Amino acid sequence: MSLVIAVDGPAASGKGTVARGLARHYGLPHLDTGKLYRAVALSLLRWGGDPDSEFAALRAVHEISGLMDDPELKSETVGGIASRISAYPAVRAALLERQREFAGQPGGAVLDGRDIGTVIAPQATAKLFVTAAVEERAKRRHAELTAAGLPVHLEDVLIDLRARDERDSHRSAAPLVMADDALLLETTTMGPDEALAEAIRLVESRRRS
Ligand code: DC
Repeated sequence: MSLVIAVDGPAASGKGTVARGLARHYGLPHLDTGKLYRAVALSLLRWGGDPDSEFAALRAVHEISGLMDDPELKSETVGGIASRISAYPAVRAALLERQREFAGQPGGAVLDGRDIGTVIAPQATAKLFVTAAVEERAKRRHAELTAAGLPVHLEDVLIDLRARDERDSHRSAAPLVMADDALLLETTTMGPDEALAEAIRLVESRRRS
């Protein structure tokens, strides 16, 4: 039986850590779909394309293959542009097929993003919606960026996350919404191990039903 797990949620909610942990636990391949949008943003930045142009962003989709492991993908600048260009329907459409193929692998897969349970893999075995209070997410992102040698002010991270939440949730193309059949995983007071244990419990509850 193929096991497809969709993990969605806002930025810095812990969804990436949960998705990686689930992939390890079940021995499944994992795709961080945010990286695709970040790679489009980085490609635009490097080539000097205009993020306000849907056409330029679509062109950048075709230049992402060499960028998927670039350390600059993690930067807040790239994340902010990724959030903007991910609102373009043409960009989303151009990235759809490779995500669906990944989800359709024999045996299954774990994908994390914003629209996995709603658009990419609506037939997923288990859908998790991972979230946490925005102040806690800002703290986590701040610690991550500091550790990566990219110093920023906590207040700036908070302002940036709020703006990103607003954009990701209110765009018309595949906005961040919890799928009707998703299970909520609220991680505000959880560490990574506890969040993963709870995620496994939620996935198991879906496998049995
Ligand atoms: O998860 P992340 O912060 O790396 O994602 C970067 C941006 O990409 C995010 O602000 C919205 C967009 N994104 C999306 O629209 N759909 C996805 N499935 C994944 C990310």
